[in-house]
Amino acid sequence: MAILVTGGAGYIGSHTVLALLERGEDVVVLDNLVNASEESLHRVAQLTGKTAAFYPGDIRDSECLARVFGEHQITSVIHFAGLKAVGESVQKPLEYYQNNVAGTLVLLEAMRQAGVHQFIFSSSATVYGEHSPVPYQESMPIGGTTSPYGTSKWMVEQVLQDFAKADPLFSIIALRYFNPVGAHESGLMGEDPGGVPNNLLPYIAQVAIGQREQLSVFGGDYPTKDGTGVRDYIHVMDVAQGHLAAMDHLKQIAGFKAYNLGSGIGYSVLEMVQAFEKASGVTIAYQILPRRAGDLPAFWADAELAKQELGWQVQRGLDVMMRDTWNWQRKNPRGYRS
Ligand code: NAD
Ligand code: WQD
Repeated sequence: MAILVTGGAGYIGSHTVLALLERGEDVVVLDNLVNASEESLHRVAQLTGKTAAFYPGDIRDSECLARVFGEHQITSVIHFAGLKAVGESVQKPLEYYQNNVAGTLVLLEAMRQAGVHQFIFSSSATVYGEHSPVPYQESMPIGGTTSPYGTSKWMVEQVLQDFAKADPLFSIIALRYFNPVGAHESGLMGEDPGGVPNNLLPYIAQVAIGQREQLSVFGGDYPTKDGTGVRDYIHVMDVAQGHLAAMDHLKQIAGFKAYNLGSGIGYSVLEMVQAFEKASGVTIAYQILPRRAGDLPAFWADAELAKQELGWQVQRGLDVMMRDTWNWQRKNPRGYRS
């Protein structure tokens, strides 16, 4: 009996693999390493004393999937694999639809053939699009996405709903993450963006370590508490725990359900800078620039449904997110290449 984790060498996937192994689950990882290093899985093994079986393969490769399902008694699949850079998705839409949408179809077909019916999908707050009022609730209509990346997540959710309706054996949960940040408390695992980070906290951490000169704050004139963008940041280990709670819930439901994984609290960019400075003791140089294309002023989760139905809520506040990010960055200035 094992859980297949696609994209399990990546940022959120590797932290979830660690949480699954710590709970005593057997884990099989499939990852093509397009945005990850196998070193993350070595660190998981170092921390847990347990090893996940690893297949360096692609979710679009049906023969590879058949081999994985043939060689292990898989009972459920947690599907992280995909491309995630919003800006890049605008430049390379076909790659995003191929990996994120077509790849998921190949995976679902392989599951159907193997008789594996429990599925958790990495969705995103981005599916609420640009017109939803905050806080975002799961009952709101989704769509109005502003990038091929966001649209790919929206499309997969539509596919999953139709698929679950057509085949009542399937139980499917889409987890809509807000803004995952932070690292494992050991400082041995964390987020390892290649090149210039797209996301706020990895960028701040690289300024703190001296790899980047200053943070560009995108927009100081939003209608928010201090004019900068507001988001719902969530510790990656809380995201990992959310998957364990969703796994348990899958066994009790049929069909498709979506849950927000967020804290319900919004912090501005400048609040994030201040909190990081407090945790690290390092001053973060920044300049305020014009808004970044496609950014929304402010959004955060209504976190009640996951609390009520999954019995899950965040356990780690902003101080812990910052402490763990700094700990990881300091110990691994070049990420997993250190
Ligand atoms: P990540 O890039 O670190 O992890 C994705 C993993 O999937 C990588 O290890 C990559 O090598 C692998 N992968 C990509 N395409 C593949 C393919 N075709 N076959 C096999 N493996 C493939 O990203 P992450 O931050 O860990 O995100 C995990 C999932 O969560 C993604 O689906 C992402 O879209 C979603 N998500 C992330 C965030 C975030 O801010 N990090 C927010 C919402 C949703
Ligand atoms: C957060 C805030 C920026 C960088 C993206 C995806 C979303 C999800 C998470 C996957 C915003 C500001 C950022 C910088 C800045 N991923 N910022 N300077 O844009 O909320 O979400 O990642 O699903 O789909 O869109 O996250 O970390 O990029 O930005 O001022 O150098 O920080 O404008 O207000 P975002 P982010």
